[in-house]
Amino acid sequence: MKKRILTGDRPTGRLHLGHYVGSLKQREELQREYETFILIADVQALTTHFENPDLINDSIYQVTIDNLSVGLDPERVTFIQQSMVPAIHVLATFYSMFVTVNQLSHNPTIKTEAKNYGYREMSYGFLGYPVSQAADITFCYADLVPVGDDQVPHIELARKIVRKFNEMYGTSIKEPDYKLSNVSRLIGLDGASKMGKSLGNAIYLSDSPDEVWNKVRNGVTDTNRVSVKIPGNPDICSIYKYQVAFNKEGCEEIKEECKNAKIGCVQCKKILNEKINALLDPMREKRAYYETHKDAVRDIISSGTERANEIGNENLRGIEDKMHLVLK
Ligand code: TRP
Repeated sequence: MKKRILTGDRPTGRLHLGHYVGSLKQREELQREYETFILIADVQALTTHFENPDLINDSIYQVTIDNLSVGLDPERVTFIQQSMVPAIHVLATFYSMFVTVNQLSHNPTIKTEAKNYGYREMSYGFLGYPVSQAADITFCYADLVPVGDDQVPHIELARKIVRKFNEMYGTSIKEPDYKLSNVSRLIGLDGASKMGKSLGNAIYLSDSPDEVWNKVRNGVTDTNRVSVKIPGNPDICSIYKYQVAFNKEGCEEIKEECKNAKIGCVQCKKILNEKINALLDPMREKRAYYETHKDAVRDIISSGTERANEIGNENLRGIEDKMHLVLK
């Protein structure tokens, strides 16, 4: 029996190259070794975007298509719409007794996010999303969660909750493990911060060749290099970081040429542009199919969600029984 992994995406917009480098690429590889569940976390999306339900609705499709376009195989992978799995939400409520408000407000990821979104007052739903995430992972007996470092506090919290819960009720809910992705985060083309949907510095998997070129063309390089004749410093160039990520074979040579003023920024950007488009072209092809077959995408989500409900309802029934909630 293959082990099961569960991973999640918030449908608050399309996925970009940062997501690809940080998780989708590994996810595509892992699907062969593990039974793969992908949760489209629309309830978690509501915690920050509840005022924009249409964006969430559209993004459920887009994020699913992003995953399919990267090569996640709908025959093999279970796609799940979080809001449509009641067991997750019941379990999250049960779990919420096993975590203190203090614990949640000191969660480092919650703190950073609260700062980024500029919240003056955090909602109860937002503060509690790590509890709901613990339910996302455990409702289906997931063994492993592939994560970036920002998600580690959430997995650790999930483990703590599960341990206490099992001790209290004699349940045997599986304590999840995480598999840390060891790739460094892709910075934005502005060179200023990580690539982010909300930061306007991202190349989307769904971008056209023209859009990609416009973004690459405007990417920030070594700002001291005002002329091709001056040697550049790849260490402080955002485009060079992309060469490392998307042009493994060629990046060393470019580094030398840049340092010796043998290649200009425009030429360097053209090379990068080609590499990125070569990566995106096969994705564009798959996307084009799904964009015109939205019914197929909806069926993939609904059949996966149905399967998740079968697993989740059975699991929940066992837990409720152990909690002495079932009247005899
Ligand atoms: N919090 C994750 C993110 O922001 C998304 C997510 C929701 C998730 N539920 C999950 C990740 C369960 C792993 C497991 O990217």
